[in-house]
Amino acid sequence: MENAKIFITGGAGFIGSYVVEELLAYKPARIIILDNLIRGSLENMQAFINNPVIEFVEGDIRDRELLEKCVAGADYVFHMAALRINSCAANPRDGFEVMLQSTFELAELCLKHKVKKVIYSSSASVYGLAQHFPTPETDNPYDNQTFYGGAKLWGEQLFRSYKFMFGLDYVALRYFNVYGARMDTDGKYTEVMIKWLDCIRDGKAPLIYGDGSTTMDFVYVRDVAKANVAALLAEVTDEAFNVGNCEETSLKQLLHTLLKVNNSTLAPEYREANSVNPVSRRLADNTKAKNFLAFQPSISLEEGLYELSQWYFEKQKIKI
Ligand SMILES: NC(=O)c1ccc[n+]([C@@H]2O[C@H](COP(=O)([O-])OP(=O)(O)OC[C@H]3O[C@@H](n4cnc5c(N)ncnc54)[C@H](O)[C@@H]3O)[C@@H](O)[C@H]2O)c1
Repeated sequence: MENAKIFITGGAGFIGSYVVEELLAYKPARIIILDNLIRGSLENMQAFINNPVIEFVEGDIRDRELLEKCVAGADYVFHMAALRINSCAANPRDGFEVMLQSTFELAELCLKHKVKKVIYSSSASVYGLAQHFPTPETDNPYDNQTFYGGAKLWGEQLFRSYKFMFGLDYVALRYFNVYGARMDTDGKYTEVMIKWLDCIRDGKAPLIYGDGSTTMDFVYVRDVAKANVAALLAEVTDEAFNVGNCEETSLKQLLHTLLKVNNSTLAPEYREANSVNPVSRRLADNTKAKNFLAFQPSISLEEGLYELSQWYFEKQKIKI
């Protein structure tokens, strides 16, 4: 990777900004970030925006000319720009343009400009409610009901076909529930941590909608960034990998740990479930990533929630 030119879409975002930080340690010649800041921010890039290796381009991946300028000369591409699951549901046409059309244009441009490898951010959403727990990559994707999950799966299949037809090397990473400092504070699945942190700050009872038995597999963002770099460095192509923490955590357990790391004695209050969540369980099987990428998550939920809490309270300049 030393002296390589790397292009990253969505590099001003939550996960993307950590991938950039991780990549800088490998001394690339250049990292070009294309982001329209619809969700990403200059604040996320604070640690590296003034580094001479970094070139930040504020713009849209739907702008093909701009996209080509960024891809031209790149050795490696990380494709992370995407709309959130809720945005895709609210505006499927935008979802189509950003997640499908632009990913297609990017694949075409990677081929044209002889990019050596693409690392594609996919999602555990491709499984819908999985068939097996822990879920291996071989579980089928037919239970996904979301536009977002469908778009991520199509992206994987697009790169798969471009490998088959034209030899374009790629790896797809199916992230589970990513959390950590700089995380999204409005997302459907992640906002609960932030809402509870607000309750801890204000000394109010945290609310659990439903019985709190829905489970997720929470993986810390720095581990996800490490998986991205591992996917680039490993001699592997044409494969999709789960990236989770391999721990199934219910909402109830999540709240318990969040209260614990913040030394809070607040008790939760339960409310009737206000939405139907078709995905009641998530648990990754990371065996494949361990074998092919030598990737293993290293940050426990307790450590991660502590770091998240510190960041969130610091951000608000609130002392608890
Ligand atoms: N956060 C998670 O739990 C999670 C789970 C599975 C998969 N993913 C995937 O990982 C990737 C990164 O996610 P994240 O959590 O960092 O989200 P994020 O929203 O913070 O990052 C996405 C970035 O893409 C940018 N972007 C969106 N549309 C764009 C466009 N048209 N042109 C240019 N830039 C655009 C946004 O401004 C943002 O900075 C995404 O592909 C996402 O789908 C995330």
